[in-house]
This record gives sequence, C-alpha cells and structure tokens, in this order.
Amino acid sequence: MREKAHVREVGPRDGLQMVKTSLSSERKLAWCRRAAEAGIGEIEVTSFVPPKVVPQFADAEIVARGALAMGGFQPSVLVPNLKGAERAFAIGLPKVNYVLSASEAHNLANVRRSTEESLQDFARIAAIRNQRPEARISLAGGIATAFGCTIAGAVPETRVVELAVRLVEMGADEIIVADTVGYGDPGQVRRLMTAVIAAVGCAPVACHFHDTRGLGLANVTAALDAGVRAFDASLAGLGGCPFAPGATGNIDTEDTVFLLEQLGFDTGVDVEALIALRREVESWLPGERFSGAVARAGLPKTYRSHPRAA
Ligand code: COA
Ligand code: ZN
Repeated sequence: MREKAHVREVGPRDGLQMVKTSLSSERKLAWCRRAAEAGIGEIEVTSFVPPKVVPQFADAEIVARGALAMGGFQPSVLVPNLKGAERAFAIGLPKVNYVLSASEAHNLANVRRSTEESLQDFARIAAIRNQRPEARISLAGGIATAFGCTIAGAVPETRVVELAVRLVEMGADEIIVADTVGYGDPGQVRRLMTAVIAAVGCAPVACHFHDTRGLGLANVTAALDAGVRAFDASLAGLGGCPFAPGATGNIDTEDTVFLLEQLGFDTGVDVEALIALRREVESWLPGERFSGAVARAGLPKTYRSHPRAA
C-alpha cells in the first residue's frame, strides 16, 4: 500500500482569475467533470467574490450548484469574507476555503481590511457553520503570502504560525499555507511547514505553491519532507492573484501528480487524462501562457502509472 497524497485542482478558481477570456459556465463545469474523472478528489470550482471585483466569477452560483449536482468529487469554493461564506452555505457546499494574508499590505490590497479584521470575519463564519453541524461543512483557513509578499517583502514565520494556530482555534478544519507570489524556497518551506504542523496539532495542513521563480516543485518536495500530504495545483500552470503585483501561475497539476507518483505516493490521478484535458482547456483560452514539462515531453516509458480503478 502506497501512502496517499492529495492534489486539489484550483484551476477553475486561481487558474481563471487573471485570464482574459471569460469562460462559459458549461466549460468550467466540463473542466471539473473531466478532472474528477481523471481522479482529482477536490476541486476549488469558483470564488465567491463580488462580480465587479473578478468578473470571471459572475457565474459562481451556477458553477457551484452544477459542480455539487455532478457528484464524484468534493467541490470547494474560495471566499474572502462573511458574505462569500453565506453564499456558499446557501448552496449547501460541503467545503469552504477562506483566505486571509500573513502580509498586512497584501490583506489590505486583496480584501480591503486588516488581517485581524479578516480573522474576526473567519470567527463569525465558523460560528454560523457550527450552528448547523448536520450540514457537515468543512472550513479551510488559507494563509496567503506566507513566504513573502511583493508589496511588503519579508513575512515573519512566527506570524504565519500564529495565524495557523488562531484559525484552528477558531474552527478551521484544514490550514492551507500559500506562497501567493512564489517567494518560497525549499529551506524556508521545510522550516515553516515543520513549525506549522507542530503548532496546529492534528489539523491537516496543505500547501499552495506558485512557480513564479521555478521553485514550485522543489518546494513540494521540501513540504513532503516536513510532512505535508496535500497540495493545490492548477491545470497547465494557470493562475495568479490579481491583487498581488507580479503574481504568476500555480504549480502544474500534471507535473505535481507526476512528481508525487514518482516519489512513490498514491494520488489516484491519471496523468494522461489530465494532459488530454489541458489540451482542451488550452484551446478555450487563447493568448494565455501555459507551462508544464510533462505535457510538453510526455510521460517516460518507465512511469509507474496508477490510474484509478475503473
Ligand atoms: N460576494 C458578493 N458580493 C459581495 C461580497 C461577496 N463575497 N462581499 C461584499 N459584497 C458586496 C457587498 O454586499 C456590497 O454590495 P453593495 O455595494 O451593493 O452594498 C459591496 O460588495 C461592497 O461590500 P464591502 O463589504 O464594502 O466590500 P469591499 O468593497 O470592502 O471589498 C471584498 C471586500 C473582500 C469583497 C473584495 O476586496 C474582494 O472580493 N476581494 C477578493 C479579491 C480576490 O478575489 N483575490 C484573489 C483570491 S486570493
Ligand atoms: Zn494562488
């Protein structure tokens, strides 16, 4: 039995928030369906932000409802505030991923208030969730700019650990530590993730890496060393925060799955199916920059392929 590692597809959310083409709800849902068929267990399907902030997500309710009706995977959504969480709860989504930033400057640029105010909003969201335990809603607390910020520069590791602990104390079921702008390096990742995991006890901790400076997959291996077993990734390496100067794409889903499988982990994901899907997604998004080494070169003949049992 190989040890499991989880890859959450965030392409329909992080991947789409900076692209020029407005993708139809049908295509977003087709992306989700085929990613789930390829074996992805959780997909962040959209973002509950005001349409005027990110017009790409004006159809968030349609996509979230469609994804929920589809079955076969856990649909989650990103929310930046209480209003976003209320929209998610109204639909009955099983998983809500909240985001705040370790960098005060990025928190202000991204959600227009202090990190402390964002924490207080999270406490209100958790309180509402707790009133309805029968709904079994899982809440993740995401910490953006955890490895540094293009506006403020360095972010103290102690601040990230403190935020992770406070989010868990307030009711987060999972912590997502995010390198929003690709400042992290393997040494820093190993150190910080070891500290976060030690501080939060049994809450699962995931990493969200951007490959802005080419260290994305190196950071995955460092996080694995620290004990992390869940990673966000985006098909074809799309992605980036519109409110973080210089942000670029996430680590590629295909390359991340390939790396994890080669290291002996069981992701349950069929890389060939992901590559076929990314070809289609590329055709939907003219003029975008895509990355990904496995899609370019193909899988090696020696690849230990473990597609999900039919
Ligand atoms: N969904 C839909 N509408 C929302 C909303 C949400 N999550 N949050 C607020 N609104 C509405 C309010 O109801 C209000 O509407 P009104 O003008 O008709 O009364 C309006 O938006 C302004 O509300 P306010 O609470 O003052 O928000 P704000 O203008 O301070 O913006 C955020 C705060 C968090 C909504 C905004 O900064 C945001 O969406 N940030 C997310 C950015 C992002 O997507 N980053 C990338 C992912 S990390
Ligand atoms: Zn991101």
